Amino acid sequence: MIRFPFNPDVTRAETPPARLYTDPVWLELESERIFARTWQLVGRTDLVASHGSYFTADIGRESIVIVRDGEALRGFHNVCLHRAGPVAHGAGCRKTMQCKYHGWTYSLGGQLLHAPEMEGTCDFEPANFQLQPVQVATWGPLVFANLDTKAPAFSTVLEDIPQRAARFAPERMQWVMRRDYDIACNWKVYVDNYLEGYHIPVVHPTLHKEIDYDQYRVEPRRYYSLQHAPLRPLPPLTGSAIGDRKYTPASADDVAQYYWLFPNTMLNIYQGQMQTNVIIPLGPDRTRTVFEWYATEPPDNVHTDARWQELVKFSDDIQQEDVEICEVVQKNLHSRVYDRGRYSAKRENGVHHFHALLHEFLT
Ligand code: FES
Ligand SMILES: [Fe+2]
Repeated sequence: MIRFPFNPDVTRAETPPARLYTDPVWLELESERIFARTWQLVGRTDLVASHGSYFTADIGRESIVIVRDGEALRGFHNVCLHRAGPVAHGAGCRKTMQCKYHGWTYSLGGQLLHAPEMEGTCDFEPANFQLQPVQVATWGPLVFANLDTKAPAFSTVLEDIPQRAARFAPERMQWVMRRDYDIACNWKVYVDNYLEGYHIPVVHPTLHKEIDYDQYRVEPRRYYSLQHAPLRPLPPLTGSAIGDRKYTPASADDVAQYYWLFPNTMLNIYQGQMQTNVIIPLGPDRTRTVFEWYATEPPDNVHTDARWQELVKFSDDIQQEDVEICEVVQKNLHSRVYDRGRYSAKRENGVHHFHALLHEFLT
């Protein structure tokens, strides 16, 4: 039985042992017990808006296909029941899904309709063959999937986020751009780092000048947490790289909401725009972070739009600062002198909440 020690009291707890961040055994376990059982951000609703439109995506080693079938949005394992060929490629629009190997054809509902040259095969009934389903849900412009058909519904995980974020009208946001960053660290090192503002004064001096660090706090819920990061009060009409500071917010939550959904999705929502981050493990020491931007008023051309270029540059700079520290931490987690540390009860309750969920799912 694989276990790791965990204390639910953050004031007494120690951080997880370093081996969780370095040993391939844990990544195997995480892919089975976490990534195959939780809601994963896999794509966008605009790609599956019309009947027959579909896109494929990967959750770990599993390939899936999301398809629009009339009113219903369906998800299936992208694995043919004959000899495991793919029933869909990339994205597009089709009346049926035809396997790219021997041409078995499935309805958009996943039912096998036609299998060529199977006449001599005994007891073969196409009606008995149905693609394996996955759970699908949407929120705003985002499509989520869960490989576990028995996992709690997406609404259970989102809880009250739709109400809390309603003022930003996410359903009116459109995709703008994507940027991938590959980082030499364990996926949990990156998530830990995202979940606290404790490192901001030292790692992000520029960002530190913008936010009201004393007011910064993390609110953990069952499967998500929300970071409240109010901006420092500035004189009206002062421009800023974080966006348009001419806006006078009524409350901290009016400025921005930073949601993290267990285990690896971040939704950073601002007035008029949203940035999603998906943190994908590539190996024990290797992670891809996928950043995508959405906006209520997308620019005509993001590459020439000065405001967007400034925004992306700011995000890039912050990301670079995080990447550098995460890569050093990963290297040091292999150190012969380090195993576990302590939490700041005031500043790292969000990290501790993540570790509590890791402990719940893994052991
Ligand atoms: S594997 Fe799909 S038709 Fe043969
Ligand atoms: Fe950071």
